[in-house]
Amino acid sequence: MRVLVTGGAGYIGSIVALRLVESGDAVTVLDDLSTGHRDAVPAGAAFVLGRVHDAAELLAGRRFDAVVHLAASSLVAESVANPAKYEENNVVGSRRLVAALAGLGADRLVFSSSAAVYGEPDEVPITEDAPARPVNPYGASKLAVDGLLAEQASLGLLGAVSLRYFNVAGAYGGLGERHDPESHLVPIALEAALGLRPGLAIYGDDYPTRDGTCVRDYIHVADLAAAHLAALERAVPGRHRVYNLGNGTGFTVREVLSAVEAVTARSLEVTIGPRRAGDPAVLVASSARAASELGWVPERPEIATMIADAWRVLLARRS
Ligand code: UFG
Repeated sequence: MRVLVTGGAGYIGSIVALRLVESGDAVTVLDDLSTGHRDAVPAGAAFVLGRVHDAAELLAGRRFDAVVHLAASSLVAESVANPAKYEENNVVGSRRLVAALAGLGADRLVFSSSAAVYGEPDEVPITEDAPARPVNPYGASKLAVDGLLAEQASLGLLGAVSLRYFNVAGAYGGLGERHDPESHLVPIALEAALGLRPGLAIYGDDYPTRDGTCVRDYIHVADLAAAHLAALERAVPGRHRVYNLGNGTGFTVREVLSAVEAVTARSLEVTIGPRRAGDPAVLVASSARAASELGWVPERPEIATMIADAWRVLLARRS
């Protein structure tokens, strides 16, 4: 397959691109490098510098069978401070990309949606039928694109799949998380373990959970990438499907930090800070639909594996 991967220089996108290259697909990465890294684009993938907004012009003359669309702004706090940026980058950009698809020959698209579309859930584990009530502009932007894809599919113009990621962690093929600034728990804790930060704060310990800290469902980035390949194979023109991707098991922030201490054999300086605005208490996925329809079963469900893989890549990068 000839596959266009937007955002293929980012953490998840580069690993999706690598898995596609490994499985013999012809991959082109489109990325504006606003947050991604040129050296994360796998050898064997073509690279085009630019925004998804300009896909039609930048990719004129190229033909694709399918698109994996990950290019987006993805910081929840930033989306609250600057919602217009999320409308422009995520919603307008996706609309322009979708408008360019026919000219590029592609009739299948896999989209990186998010657990953030659900907001504060009524019930866990969260199924795809749960009400989508985002509590921040980031989640709202992902939900808007899910709606756009559903509409395009119903018009018979596209086969689309929205993958709603829960909390992604780990590394694959030497590629790990490299955000600047970093806001995610696992890389922050690993940087603290390595002495790159003095320590870290737990954002609230008064949630209604077993130890008072937020519960999240962590999924290994390589398992997540595998779901994209399965979704590409099963995307059917005229149809839009949504899948939640997690392991169905929740870990509290404290449990994650204990796992980091165990894997790294270092102790962390941890303080308790205030809650972070917009953090739901518990987010755990039901991925039963992905299992039955995509045949997708995570191969690396252990949080220790995710942390160990991320740790190895962080150490290698620092050496
Ligand atoms: N946390 C801390 N201290 C830190 C960093 C995080 O206590 O220094 C806590 C957060 O409050 C949260 C948990 O660790 O309870 C996980 O936080 P992350 O920032 O790692 O991940 P989120 O759950 O906030 O975000 C993830 C994705 C987002 C997505 C969101 C859906 O990264 O893209 O899930 O809610 F929008």
